[in-house]
Amino acid sequence: MKELIDKLHHTQELTREEFLTLLSNRNTETDLYARRLARGVRQKIYGDQVYIRGLIEFTSYCRNDCYYCGLRRSNHAAQRYRLTEEDILSCCQQGYELGFRTFVLQGGEDGYFTGERLAGLVRHIKKQYPDCALTLSVGERTEEEYRAFWKAGADRYLLRHETADETHYRILHPEPLSLQHRKDCLRTLKKLGFQTGAGFMVGSPGQTAETLAEDFLFLKELDPEMVGIGPFISHKDTPFRSREDGTLEDTLFYLALVRLMLPRALLPATTALGTIAPDGRELGILSGANVVMPNLSPLSVRKKYMLYDGKISTGDEAAECVEQLRKRMETIGCCIVTDRGDYKK
Ligand code: 5AD
Repeated sequence: MKELIDKLHHTQELTREEFLTLLSNRNTETDLYARRLARGVRQKIYGDQVYIRGLIEFTSYCRNDCYYCGLRRSNHAAQRYRLTEEDILSCCQQGYELGFRTFVLQGGEDGYFTGERLAGLVRHIKKQYPDCALTLSVGERTEEEYRAFWKAGADRYLLRHETADETHYRILHPEPLSLQHRKDCLRTLKKLGFQTGAGFMVGSPGQTAETLAEDFLFLKELDPEMVGIGPFISHKDTPFRSREDGTLEDTLFYLALVRLMLPRALLPATTALGTIAPDGRELGILSGANVVMPNLSPLSVRKKYMLYDGKISTGDEAAECVEQLRKRMETIGCCIVTDRGDYKK
């Protein structure tokens, strides 16, 4: 297995068969080996700098019905909210003062936020904070809408592909969502010039070594600037309520493989990783991640953006606790910087 990890490290690619072999035969020793190499690659490209992003979860309304997600349309127990433009701008102000230079606007696919409304919001934020990067994470939209967001000044766009295997995609999402359309959106975003993020959950129902091999091959082909990888965590009000959560070890290993395959990628140690283990995010950074995304949403809505059970939102992952986060990162030899934290070409 070490040979395959070395090959990935040196050539940044593996064949489908090699990925399958690696994913089905790994053990503790190979995992630690990959994670150590990935940490070195991260160090070589980004040094000891960890980038922070202020995450603003601005709407919990969603038209989709993804089986895994607590915000799915059919979850009538979910508490829905929508922030006003004023709320959002005041989150940005608070974040700016705390040292954030990237804001991520994330929300469900909420019909209220038309392309025009969102583009207006983007323009407003970029005018107010010209030295900040703005990331959107608002799902599948038309090319015209994506173009309007780009023209308004948005810099980055997160849209996880969730799985690159058609059959698995159907296990996770009912129609009309389709893998084909998701991939089309990602290619459009790249074409328009966005720093684009794809990614997947670890241990989602139906995931196998085969589906994961497809994920890695797809990521290689797309060559995204960002990759979001976090464990699946069950939510009590979804059809996947009794499915097992993804594990820490699997998540750290896949983070490491992505760092080896896409050395320059912006790779967050996700909130979900911090939710399944108290030191999850530190371990993520030590396995190749280089981004953390503290929660910058107003306290009054944080408990309502429940993608999965137990989602942390008021501990050290909260934006107002960035000082604690800074200290935690220093204990592992990293430093949080006041910087847009763009992809290094
Ligand atoms: N567990 C972990 N991650 C989840 N997401 C949605 N639901 C869950 C869950 N139950 C992730 C999806 C989505 C991102 C915003 O949150 O991958 O892309």
